[in-house]
Amino acid sequence: MAAIQPSQRLFVALDTPDEARALALCGQLAGVVGGVKVGNELFTAAGPAGVARLGATGLPVFLDLKFHDIPNTVGRAVRAALALKPFMLTVHAAGGVAMMRAAAEAAAEAGAERPLLIGITVLTSMNDEALAATGVAGPVLGHAERLARLSRDNGLDGITCSAHEAPLLRAACGPDFVLVTPGIRPAAVGGDDQKRTVTPAEAVRLGADCLVVGRPITGADDPAAAARAVAAEIAEAGP
Ligand code: C5P
Repeated sequence: MAAIQPSQRLFVALDTPDEARALALCGQLAGVVGGVKVGNELFTAAGPAGVARLGATGLPVFLDLKFHDIPNTVGRAVRAALALKPFMLTVHAAGGVAMMRAAAEAAAEAGAERPLLIGITVLTSMNDEALAATGVAGPVLGHAERLARLSRDNGLDGITCSAHEAPLLRAACGPDFVLVTPGIRPAAVGGDDQKRTVTPAEAVRLGADCLVVGRPITGADDPAAAARAVAAEIAEAGP
C-alpha cells in the first residue's frame, strides 16, 4: 500500500450536480475521510472553479474524469487538471500505451504534488457480451488484467477495479500498485443498484488500497457518522 496512507483510504463519491450540496458534504466530512471523488456530473455542473472551492475545504480531491483521447489531448488535459492539485485522477487504459505515457509525463510536471494516475480498465457496467460487441474477444476479467498490466508498465500508479477482481489484479501487478475499489456497502446497509457489493472490511482483505463509497455516506441522515463507521471498519480490517 505504498502511496496511500491509512488516513487516505476512504474517498466519498460526490455524485450530485449541486455544488452547494457537495460543499456542505465536504464540510461534514473534512477530517473524517481521506478525500472526495468528483466525477463528470459534478465537474460538468460546477466546473473547475467549483472543484477548486471543494478542494479549499482541505479535502483531497480524486478527479474522476476518465480521460480518453489522443495522447496529445490527454497530456494537455492532465496538465490543465494539475491546476486543481488533485490527489488522484483517472484515464482510460484503453486509450493505449502512448496515451498513458503522455498522461504520466504531464503529471510528472507537478513534481512533489504529482497526482496519482489511476487507470480505468473495463467498466463494471460491461459484461462479456457487451465487451464482445465492441470487438474485444475474451472474458472481461482477462481484458481487465491485460489493461492493468499495461497501466502498470506505462507510468500509471494504479487502477480502479471491483474488490472481487482485486486478488487477481494484485497478483498480476504487485504490492505497490494502487487498487481503488467502488461497489462498497457497509454490512448494515441494504442493497441498491450496485450488484456484487462487498463490505469495507472485505474490500480491505481482498487487497483494496482505496475505497470509494457514495450513497451509504452521502445519503445517510448523518454523513459524518456513517463515514466514521466505514473508516472504523477499514481500520479494523488491517493495514
Ligand atoms: O453510491 P455508490 O457507493 O454506489 O457510488 C460509487 C461510485 O463509484 C460512483 O461514483 C460510481 O460511478 C463509481 N463507480 C462504480 N463502479 C465502477 C466504477 C465507478 O460504482 N466500476
